[in-house]
Formats: sequence, C-alpha cells, structure tokens
Amino acid sequence: MQNQISEDIRIMLETIRRFVKKDLEPISRQVEDEDKIPPETVRKMRELGLFGLSIPQEYEGLGLSTWGECLVYEELSKTNACFRTRIATNNGIGSQGILLDGTEEQKQKYLPRLASGEWTACFALSEPEAGSDAANIQTTALKDGDKYILNGVKHFITNGDIADLATVFALTDKGKRAKGGITAFLVEKGTPGFEVGTIERKMGLRGTHTCQLIFDNCPVPEENIVGGALMTGQGFKTAMRTLDKGRLTMGASALGSAQRLLGLSLDYAKQRVQFKQPIGNFQSVQNMLADMATQIYAARQMLYHAAQLRDEKGSAVIKEASMVKLFCTEMAGKVADMAVQIHGGMGYMKDFSVERFYRDLRLTRIYEGTSEIQRMVIARQLLK
Ligand code: CAA
Repeated sequence: MQNQISEDIRIMLETIRRFVKKDLEPISRQVEDEDKIPPETVRKMRELGLFGLSIPQEYEGLGLSTWGECLVYEELSKTNACFRTRIATNNGIGSQGILLDGTEEQKQKYLPRLASGEWTACFALSEPEAGSDAANIQTTALKDGDKYILNGVKHFITNGDIADLATVFALTDKGKRAKGGITAFLVEKGTPGFEVGTIERKMGLRGTHTCQLIFDNCPVPEENIVGGALMTGQGFKTAMRTLDKGRLTMGASALGSAQRLLGLSLDYAKQRVQFKQPIGNFQSVQNMLADMATQIYAARQMLYHAAQLRDEKGSAVIKEASMVKLFCTEMAGKVADMAVQIHGGMGYMKDFSVERFYRDLRLTRIYEGTSEIQRMVIARQLLK
C-alpha cells in the first residue's frame, strides 16, 4: 500500500514531518501550559495549506484524497493533538456540510476562506440533551418571512470560540426530527443573537477550546440553509454524512499518536536501566511493545483500506468509517496505557509527553461519536 502513495503526497508528508519536528514539537509544552497556539504557528500552518487539506483545488484547497488527508493527520498527530484539532474543523466537520450538500454559491463564498485558514469553521450539533442521541436537539429555527429565527444552546463545540462560521443544526419540524425535521444553517460570527458562552475546562486537549454557543432570537437568512431552501429538513443526513468522514480522520489521528507512543516507549525501553540492564530485556516489557506494534499495524491496514474505499466509492462508507473510529481509538487507548506502564513513574509525570498523549487520546473514544455509538452504527448496517 505504501508504494501507492503519490509523489505529491510523499513530498507533503516530508514537509509535515519537518514542520512537526522543527516548529510544533518544540512548543508542545508551552502550548499545553498556556492553553493557546501562538499566532505565528497558526500563520505557518496556513502557509502550508493545512486548513484546506480536503477542500478541492477549485475552492483553493489542496484537494487531497481521503487517504492523503489521513496520512497527513497521522503525521501531524505525532505531536500535541491540539495542532491537528486547530485545523480539523476546517478540513472536516466545519466544512463537510458545505462540500457535501452546499449550493455552488455557498461553496464559492465560504470554502476558499476556510481553505486558507482566514476563517475558522465549527460544527454545532451537540446540545446538553443531545449528545449520542443527536436527533434530540432542542434548538429551534422558526420561519419568519425570508429568514429563520434560531433559539437554543449548543455545547462541547470544538473551536467554537474562534469560529467565524458555524454549521448549526436546528429543528424546523419538531414532529419529524431525524426524519426530515432538522435543518443545517450556516451562521456567521457577528450575526445578532449569536454568542459564545462558557469555555469548558477539559481533562486534555489544551491549546484548543470546547465551547458553548448561544442562539438568542438569532436571524439567519433562508439562503443560509446548507443546500438552500430545498434542503429544509435534510440537515440530519448532512450531519451524519459529515461525521462519517470525521470518523476516518479521527482514526488517523489516534493512529499517529499511537505510533509516536510506540517510538517513545521503544527509546525508553532501550535506555532505561533497572536490575543492571535495559528494561527492554525483560519479557514483560517486550510483550507490551509487541502488542502495541501489532495493534498499530492492524489499525493502519484497516484505516488505509477504508480511506481508499471512500476515495473510490464517494462518501458511502458508513460501516467502515465507524469500524475505523472504533478500532483505531480503542487501540490507541490501549497503546497509551501500555506506554505509561513502560515509562513507569516517568509516564505519570507532566515533564514527559506520554502523560499528555494519554489524556488527549482519551477524548478520541468519545467525540465525533462514542465507541458505543460506533458499535450501534456498525450493527445497524450489518442487520439492514
Ligand atoms: N449517512 C446518510 N444518512 C444517514 C446516516 C449516514 N451515515 N446515518 C443515518 N442516516 C439517515 C437514516 O438513513 C435515516 O434516514 P430516513 O429518514 O430516510 O430513513 C435518518 O438519517 C435518521 O437515521 P436514524 O434513524 O438511524 O437516526 P437515529 O436517531 O436512530 O440516530 C445515530 C442515529 C447514528 C445514533 C446518530 O444519532 C449518531 O451518530 N449519534 C452520535 C452523534 C455524534 O457523533 N455526535 C458528535 C458530535 S461532533 C463532535 O463531537 C465534535 C465537536 O466539535 C462538537
């Protein structure tokens, strides 16, 4: 499979490797402590085109295939996860709705700004009463002439505090909900009645923020329905199709971090001496290293296969995307646990990045659909 990587992607991956080593890894700790990515680093990320990896070239993105994007995410996730998260909403959940279902005008208006990183996008689906049960949203959009009035509260919205554009899912028909009652709206920052609420305090993923968004009699023109008025009531499907792709790239991120943890654990096992020998000589440590490498190998084959399948078939890889998210994130959780164990006391200390990877990876089993939801999606597809 590695042989099939195009020359363009190979060059891109080399660039990302250098960028991670030279620019991102050295400020990893600083970003963690300050809970903020320096503007200079964001500028470099923009120069590299990282905000528009998956946005087609006709809208000024790099136009990478799903597999190409996954390979970039894998590399980028070998350092602090917040860097990947900073670009992820523009490449994924924040722009996918427009890409999949938007009108040509919406694509022309928004995608170039998102691809360049001039604007940041976010995806506003989750609410206090609608986490895994996404169809249970309470936010309403009532028609008022040629606009809709949005009322409600979204929470746990990645990059919500810095977003210039939010794809907001709201009820246009309470009786129908997922079956034609939810509509996706594009809401720009500065729209009256649209405000950022609480910024959450999280276990990890410092450097990017997760927020509440408040809509209080917020007027949104009908033309801002994703796909236009004809797509009224079709927002739930837009959300689900958006998440299908997000689940593949989330798998890639978990894989990249797991690979880095294996590298750190191998180095430590060779260099850490106990009982007058490197701890890598002990079978108990060797077993963990072997299990880590085997799990990573399996996850990589699965991810690459599913990403290539999406590139061939379009977006219809519902079951495979959920399998990838489930397997890769659960795998990375186990790898992170073993990495901490191999590092012993050092693995628990903030001076070592293993501890940060452990916390950051924990979220990958929750957001963009928990492991339990992935199992539900897989089983439903099997039983169909
Ligand atoms: N593609 C296309 N259509 C889909 C689809 C998909 N992947 N999944 C469902 N649909 C369609 C169904 O076919 C159905 O269509 P019809 O009405 O024509 O039959 C319709 O959508 C409703 O589907 P379901 O009956 O399956 O809906 P459900 O209420 O039972 O829920 C679910 C399904 C899969 C559990 C869904 O609620 C789900 O994915 N939940 C998890 C939500 C989630 O991942 N949240 C994360 C938010 S984003 C985030 O975390 C990051 C951040 O920044 C906030």
